[in-house]
Amino acid sequence: MANKITIHSPATVANMVCGFDVLGFAVNDPFDIMYIEFKVEPGITIVNEDDFNLPTDPQQNVAGAALLALMEAYEKPVGFKLTINKQIKPGSGVGSSAASSAGAVVGANAILGNPFSKEDLVRFAMNGEKLASGVKHADNIAPCIYGGVTLIRSVFPLDIIKLTVPDLYVTIVHPQIEVRTADARSILKQQILLKDAIKQWGNIAGLVAGLEQGNYELIGRSLEDVLIEPTRSILIPAFDQVKKISKELGALGGGISGSGPSIFMLSTNEFTAKSVEIAMGQIYDSIGLSYHTYVTTINTNGIQLMEAS
Ligand code: HSE
Repeated sequence: MANKITIHSPATVANMVCGFDVLGFAVNDPFDIMYIEFKVEPGITIVNEDDFNLPTDPQQNVAGAALLALMEAYEKPVGFKLTINKQIKPGSGVGSSAASSAGAVVGANAILGNPFSKEDLVRFAMNGEKLASGVKHADNIAPCIYGGVTLIRSVFPLDIIKLTVPDLYVTIVHPQIEVRTADARSILKQQILLKDAIKQWGNIAGLVAGLEQGNYELIGRSLEDVLIEPTRSILIPAFDQVKKISKELGALGGGISGSGPSIFMLSTNEFTAKSVEIAMGQIYDSIGLSYHTYVTTINTNGIQLMEAS
């Protein structure tokens, strides 16, 4: 590939309701735009083209941390200039840090002639997640790199399964508050009841089976989280109302996107997805909280690379 590459790195929805840390999917909108260039001098230069004021020190930047892991594994001295134009707001719950980390290593790998596998790239990119949230979770990184819905059966050792999915429309509302993943993790209960665990793994298995079979009713029934949502939803204004009205309008179901504050809903058709979007907006208008919405579909290819001019 060329010496300079344009990267489109998609937003992702982690957890997919019941699959805390083990399920996630990529969407077609929004996506970050990045450019990576090979440099003769070893090291990483980061340039921000957006207004988020993220650190440019590679050790402090999630994309930098991911690239450093790749460069260490490459063993020969190389250098990169990474220009980042984030469209996915940090702290929004749709995989902003994963888009940066995964985009950087997928782009660098292409420039180096693809010495690393997708699994290696997930491993490198998880260093960015560790920097952002304190934990190496892969449920945003994996769908970002593989596309579609991914199941992370295990992180250590890494075991990623890309699932078959039927057509689904995704409505996302991002109420304009920030929830830090580290905070949203710190409030979670560390012990759970066996009866709740049984419900949860029944739902995860049901969701995976529903996706593989294209069984929308089974998908809908399985979109239930008895472990995480009851604790985290308290951080998200009007969460219960959004969920209730979305289902009344015909959405299959949904819940917190990643660690929030975004909420997502799945629908079988665009009309329902757009009706849900309008209703979500009306709820946040009524409480005077600004928001962004997206109606999109599942991105089955993950990160896209183009030769830059
Ligand atoms: N699985 C992670 C969490 C995703 O819910 O904390 C964070 O985006």
